[in-house]
Amino acid sequence: MIFAIASGKGGVGKTWFAVTLAHAAARAGRRVLLFDADLGLANVDIQLGLTPDFDLGSVVAGRALLADAVLHHPEGGFDIVAGRSGSGVLSALEPAALERVLAALRHLAERYDVVLLDLGAGLERAVRRMSAWADCLLVLATEEPTSLTDAYAVLKLHAADKPHGDARVVVNQAATRQAGERTYATLQRACQTFLGRAPACAGVIRRDDRVRDAIRRQALLLTRHPNAPAAVDVTAITAALLAA
Ligand SMILES: Nc1ncnc2c1ncn2[C@@H]1O[C@H](COP(=O)(O)OP(=O)(O)OP(=O)(O)O)[C@@H](O)[C@H]1O
Ligand SMILES: [Mg+2]
Repeated sequence: MIFAIASGKGGVGKTWFAVTLAHAAARAGRRVLLFDADLGLANVDIQLGLTPDFDLGSVVAGRALLADAVLHHPEGGFDIVAGRSGSGVLSALEPAALERVLAALRHLAERYDVVLLDLGAGLERAVRRMSAWADCLLVLATEEPTSLTDAYAVLKLHAADKPHGDARVVVNQAATRQAGERTYATLQRACQTFLGRAPACAGVIRRDDRVRDAIRRQALLLTRHPNAPAAVDVTAITAALLAA
């Protein structure tokens, strides 16, 4: 199953969530690939403290095959493809070049149970294409109004591109579970009213200082703070996604 993780608004926690979901799914025994699809400001490798020999930039430039850019994260038990270009070249990826990358990724995905695409912020053509290309789109939102309107914009484009597509909302940085559920309900109402259908809620992740601590140390939250509220929440979301 291929999941894309989007939010519209930047900085809401996509990369951290993608990394933690990858780790939780690997701990549940799945073969997992985390693909850094942020073509502008890739940073999965940075959050994990890894130094890849090849990244997506090398693949697009024809210096490496996608399979050569796969790096194993031993502690996490999952694989990653880093996306850093260093030059911003990837954000201007031609549609045909993007399709070639996606075809190679489709092939590579056969080796895995779960593939996660960490998408960039914004609503660029490539973000939109990859959102629709995945089997399931996970849209991260926080309670901030700007995040909610951006999450709605992502869901609206997805509904237009893929009318029967599978999109689900993840509320991140919620003050409490109840507050997170209210945030979801706001988005749900807007989608129901204006799009005629609403995405399901994949779950709520509470705001938790240990997330920042783990990122600062380039450590995995589930290893460093296994009982932290955000760790418990992501583990529950992962179990529900894998069971579906
Ligand atoms: N549940 C949470 N509790 C507390 N802080 C969080 C939580 N989730 C994310 N953060 C904070 O949000 C910051 C941004 O996270 P991250 O880099 O994963 O966001 P992003 O959406 O990938 O950003 P970008 O759009 O720039 O790619 C992190 O450094 C972390 O401090
Ligand atoms: Mg990110």
